[in-house]
Amino acid sequence: MLVEENFSLKPHNTFGLDVIANLKASIENPEDLKELFQADRYRREKKMILGGGSNVLFTRNFLGMVLKMEVRGIEVVEEADDSILVGFGAGENWHQCVMWAVEQGYGGLENLSLIPGTIGAAPMQNIGAYGVEINQVFHSLEAYEIKTGKIVRFYNEDCKFGYRYSVFKGPQRDKYIITRVYLRLSKKPSFNISYGAIKETLDEMGVEELSLKAVSQAVINIRQSKLPDPTQIGNAGSFFKNPVVENTYFDSLRAAFEEIPGYRLDEEFTKVPAAWLIDQCGWKGKRFGNVGVHDKQALVLVNLGGGKGKELVQLSKDIQKSVQGTFGIQLETEVNII
Ligand code: EPU
Repeated sequence: MLVEENFSLKPHNTFGLDVIANLKASIENPEDLKELFQADRYRREKKMILGGGSNVLFTRNFLGMVLKMEVRGIEVVEEADDSILVGFGAGENWHQCVMWAVEQGYGGLENLSLIPGTIGAAPMQNIGAYGVEINQVFHSLEAYEIKTGKIVRFYNEDCKFGYRYSVFKGPQRDKYIITRVYLRLSKKPSFNISYGAIKETLDEMGVEELSLKAVSQAVINIRQSKLPDPTQIGNAGSFFKNPVVENTYFDSLRAAFEEIPGYRLDEEFTKVPAAWLIDQCGWKGKRFGNVGVHDKQALVLVNLGGGKGKELVQLSKDIQKSVQGTFGIQLETEVNII
């Protein structure tokens, strides 16, 4: 296996931060992992897994070994009358897999079009957009267990999915490396266009009959109109999670800020759009040197070229402080800061 030294991570993180890793290895199959974790030469190196680099913020060079996940392949494992089980290599590009499913006529992923990143990273944080989360189609995954060198299978219920959460961000953090993901897709798709903007966009597109392609294209159009293209402007999508507050607290906020949007989750909690909170504090479109807040979506921090990870972290802290000061809500980051 080829191990490279002083490897530039600039093209491998969507913020476009100019940092290097001491060592880099490409993982093309689980055997490669065994070699890297068990061979004397590399066993002691600090390691991190990198998929598409679309959810990381590097604040400094990585003094260890980056494992670039490149396990490939899309294979149909099982076919039933109305559904199909498909295995995807963890290194496959997420959006290309969505496009593959849409082309084949398999439903379930179309609302998740154009999300940057890889297949392996998707279940880690239970990616979601426009009313759909991956856990709705997720069947299982295979992961390399670092301690034993064995491949272990996790089924849907084992992953304990929540909002941008799975056990791989909680108790199983840093213990497994996801190598393959199995999704159950539908051969008789039912469309989820409950998210307001999708309906409006389909109307604007003049779509009369719903199809996987039309829904996928509507999502692509919405995303392209709001979210910066990382090949043009460095960013990692939503920088913060949408906070969840107690209903009683939300009601007191609404008394003070009539317009505050919120989605009641249950008897106890309400989810508040972080973008609205940040926007209200006046951050949208603000620029500080080479970093800033996107002018069309206040939840997205951007590297306008030549920005540093530390500057983005400082900006994120300033935003957290002002949202805390105005609304009494602590924003949590969605992006992993390294
Ligand atoms: N809003 C503002 N100002 C803005 C943007 C939005 O006030 O600049 C308010 C509006 O009231 C809007 C509400 O915030 O109705 C929600 O905005 P939007 O529908 O754009 O979604 P979001 O909650 O900001 C979430 C996900 C996105 C996902 C979209 C669509 C999180 C942290 N983010 O954003 O995911 O694409 O919904 O489903 O849950 C990502 O995780 O990287 C990501 C882009």
